[in-house]
Amino acid sequence: MIDADPDANISDLINKQTNFRDTIAGVITELGRKLERKEIPPYLSEKSLVEEEVFRHIITFNNFDLIIQGRSEGEGCYCSINNILKHLIKILAENYKITIIDSPAGLEFFARKTSIDVDDLILVTDPSKMSFHTLQRILEVKDEVSLDFKNIWVLGNRFNGKNKNLFIESFEKNLGNHMKLLGFLSYDGEIQKFNLSGKSLLELPSNNVVYQQANKIFSQIV
Ligand SMILES: Nc1ncnc2c1ncn2[C@@H]1O[C@H](COP(=O)(O)OP(=O)(O)OP(=O)(O)O)[C@@H](O)[C@H]1O
Ligand SMILES: [Mg+2]
Repeated sequence: MIDADPDANISDLINKQTNFRDTIAGVITELGRKLERKEIPPYLSEKSLVEEEVFRHIITFNNFDLIIQGRSEGEGCYCSINNILKHLIKILAENYKITIIDSPAGLEFFARKTSIDVDDLILVTDPSKMSFHTLQRILEVKDEVSLDFKNIWVLGNRFNGKNKNLFIESFEKNLGNHMKLLGFLSYDGEIQKFNLSGKSLLELPSNNVVYQQANKIFSQIV
């Protein structure tokens, strides 16, 4: 699992404290310092050094591993971190059965072409007119930068029975030719409570309604 949101929040959801030095940004910063202090022999390639260090800092769980992108300290752009991420995703995809990338909301991520060779793009949307506009704009950006996905899915989150039908109607009319509807998750008070009280979502009971909905929904593509 790659948390590719510079405003990383997966650690919050699973209540896991993470250090800056365990993120890709942290690894790069530390390597930069070592290079400055001439603690690294100049004949070693930067690319393989970063790769080695990132894999050394992978956060492991029972049945998945987590890599956090993190945010570079101070000013500067994400270009270098982005190139590294692109390279790492390729290696991960070759070594893991499934690679999941959680990207930041909006279009920046697509325009930067981080997500090459993605099988399933899942756009999580809430019941609002704004999210329809976002879905439409994502299609435009995808074509502008010639990105290709095997499947583009839309997953409705925080939906209830009534707004589900309204959404489906509008979806079929406007987006049905370009995207497929993956399913809907309901709003759930228990999830909100877990999040507010800082409890890990990994401890959500298996009889939780949204957990069961998600299980069924994702079994379509996993
Ligand atoms: N189905 C749901 N029922 C109740 N609460 C939910 C549900 N889905 C998400 N939430 C809550 O909404 C908040 C935001 O969720 P999440 O971080 O998944 O959104 P996001 O779209 O990824 O946001 P961001 O754009 O900031 O990354 C969290 O507090 C989460 O617990
Ligand atoms: Mg998010």
